Amino acid sequence: MVDVLLGLQWGDEGKGKIVDYLAPDYHIVARFQGGPNAGHTLKFDGRKIVLHTVPSGIFRPDIINYIGSGVVIDPVTLARELTLVGQVMPGATGRLRISDGAHLILPTHRMLDLASEVAKGKQKIGSTLKGIGPAYMDKTGRNGLRIGDLTLPGFRARYERLRDKHLKLLKLYPEVDFDWQSEEARWLEAIDQIRQLPVVEGRYFINDALDSGQKVLAEGAQGTMLDIDYGTYPYVTSSNTVTAGCCTGLGIAPARIGRVIGVFKAYVTRVGSGPFPTELHGTAGETLRRAGNEFGATTGRPRRCGWLDLVQLKYAIMINGVTDLAMTKMDVLDGRDTIRYAEAYEIEGRRTTHFPFDAGAVPVAPVYREVAAWKQPTADLTDHTKLPEEAAAYIRLIESQTKTPIRFISTGGTRKALIVK
Ligand code: GDP
Ligand code: IMO
Ligand code: MG
Repeated sequence: MVDVLLGLQWGDEGKGKIVDYLAPDYHIVARFQGGPNAGHTLKFDGRKIVLHTVPSGIFRPDIINYIGSGVVIDPVTLARELTLVGQVMPGATGRLRISDGAHLILPTHRMLDLASEVAKGKQKIGSTLKGIGPAYMDKTGRNGLRIGDLTLPGFRARYERLRDKHLKLLKLYPEVDFDWQSEEARWLEAIDQIRQLPVVEGRYFINDALDSGQKVLAEGAQGTMLDIDYGTYPYVTSSNTVTAGCCTGLGIAPARIGRVIGVFKAYVTRVGSGPFPTELHGTAGETLRRAGNEFGATTGRPRRCGWLDLVQLKYAIMINGVTDLAMTKMDVLDGRDTIRYAEAYEIEGRRTTHFPFDAGAVPVAPVYREVAAWKQPTADLTDHTKLPEEAAAYIRLIESQTKTPIRFISTGGTRKALIVK
């Protein structure tokens, strides 16, 4: 069986932390989409590590960590990450496997990402500038280079052809400050490091493991509202971040999917542009940002913050078929006077519980409800029975509204700060 763990909001829900906790229950942890736009933070033994391409089970002994076909890989980021992982846990990178089907991010993909954002001006997506959009465009446009191509004759020539095509395309965009020649030199060096890694047949690797009775935890990146088809288009990423993306990204049949663990914050954050109905502006947003230390793990940008949005959360649970919820950052709401959540939207005088097609273009006014705040802190609690009554009531409310059990409640950034019900 493949259990899937993914984000239910706009990313950064705390997926990395929960995967790191759950990994020992599985044989393989597998990333199925996205690339180094992801930043998954793990905290254990007094350390803080941010992973971008390597799956979050890498620090658990004996667990195989697999980068699936749906992922886009920047060799430079991956090589840097391998060094970091090796320093923290010598030998850990020996448990990494890469699919031959994963696509490569070229330096000129990053340059195109930047140029495209500059050209968009105020309408920019707020991309992480890791080259994700252009790399997936080449994939669907049938021009991409894959990990398996690295060992085929003529790789260098194919690379140069694609690079030259990008350089021609770039003439359509405003000029940007990007030294592609020196980036290329670093990239080619990193490619040589990547060639040393165990590349597997992506089409058979996971299916053979499943046939031999192994358990797989699939680790999503980004979040449901950033999905290319079901997110707040066009302010999204370029992959399928939802459960369906796990089937295409790993090459497994839908019937292989077991539990779907949806991770959400006790409030909502978003980094980059695009609609965010329950966003708090001014000091209200700033207070939440400071309490939650909401700054991007990949880009360091301040994250936009707002109240929990049950319209959005129910939508994400529906699209993904979530069986179990994991709520993170409960401790961030400690010590507040008020806690709110949206139960519906008012759009042009009409009340709705559907997430709108174009939340960016229509004025969406959330209908808020207030819940009793808790006086005793929840920070670092590990025992469900020790939760303050108001916090327990907040959890029960979300469970009854979403009709989905909350199995995990995270009460701090560290591996240990977790309540398992
Ligand atoms: P991911 O991309 O979903 O893996 O999440 P990120 O790592 O980008 O962002 C989550 C941030 O919140 C990281 O800094 C985590 O260390 C931190 N974090 C995770 N869970 C909790 C929690 O329950 N409480 C607090 N205070 N911080 C948390
Ligand atoms: P994790 O896995 C939060 C956002 C960017 C931007 C949009 C498109 O850590 O949750 P892209 O670089 O993909 O073209 O950017 O998506 N974004 C994320 N936001 N967490 C992430 O990953 C994200 N990956 C991309 O900020 O708005
Ligand atoms: Mg993140």
